[in-house]
Amino acid sequence: MSENDYLLKLENVKLSFKEQGGKYRKIIAAADFAVYKEEFFVLLGPSGCGKTSILRIIAGLQEPTSGRILMENQSIEGPSRDRAMVFQGYTSFPWLTVLENVEFGMRLYMKEENKIRERALYYLEIVGLAEHREKFPNELSGGMKQRVAIARTLAVSPKVLLMDEPFGALDAQTRWLMQELLQEISRKEKITVVFVTHDVEEAVYLADRIYISTVIPSRCFKIVSVPFKSRDVQLKNNEEFRQLEDEVVLSLRQAVFSKGGE
Ligand SMILES: Nc1ncnc2c1ncn2[C@@H]1O[C@H](COP(=O)(O)OP(=O)(O)OP(=O)(O)O)[C@@H](O)[C@H]1O
Ligand SMILES: [Mg+2]
Repeated sequence: MSENDYLLKLENVKLSFKEQGGKYRKIIAAADFAVYKEEFFVLLGPSGCGKTSILRIIAGLQEPTSGRILMENQSIEGPSRDRAMVFQGYTSFPWLTVLENVEFGMRLYMKEENKIRERALYYLEIVGLAEHREKFPNELSGGMKQRVAIARTLAVSPKVLLMDEPFGALDAQTRWLMQELLQEISRKEKITVVFVTHDVEEAVYLADRIYISTVIPSRCFKIVSVPFKSRDVQLKNNEEFRQLEDEVVLSLRQAVFSKGGE
């Protein structure tokens, strides 16, 4: 792959927060990575190392202390629907139906009612919620709510989908189903994903590459490439899959005990 195949690039991004008393605390010593077009890029690292902050910086919701973020070689300034985020919590509007929730984002920039409806139904079909379109979020299970969030986010055709532990609150069974669904959608729709998780199995199953972060002040400990071509669920029982999972767990342990940067 060449430089031109990058969709997103972080160059020497640093982040510090001012603490009570006026002293600065360095959270990110350096985030320096590029994400290829159509890549599934997973951020893995100890709690508090700045993973959510990296997503917020890419989304344009948090300004870095220094460094550059490039999207297709253009510096990004502030939020845009090019970079849409799915949060960990359930973030649908409770007073709108499933269908209206999915249509909401499109209404901000699209005019034609029939196009909006058509796209919303298309994405509801993809996430398997078409028949639940008239329900309200409080009538849905956790997995279904996250599927609404995914449909709503995909409907605005972002160039990159930012996902912050989107399945963290789900039970193991639902989580597996959601992982399977997400990997099918992301490959079929050719979307670029930056995905945060704590779960090593989830990371290995979904990722093309895994970015492992050190503790704060954080920097890259290692980037692991995942070689599997097919992502059948049976992959998780495969010997090579388990070996790679063990390697990633080991790297994560080393990353936790390694010192962050300055
Ligand atoms: N707005 C803010 N003001 C001050 N400190 C902040 C702010 N946002 C985040 N932090 C601090 O920055 C650090 C990194 O937070 P962040 O949420 O990015 O970590 P994380 O890697 O996503 O953690 P987790 O895995 O627990 O979700 C934490 O120590 C947090 O307290
Ligand atoms: Mg977080």
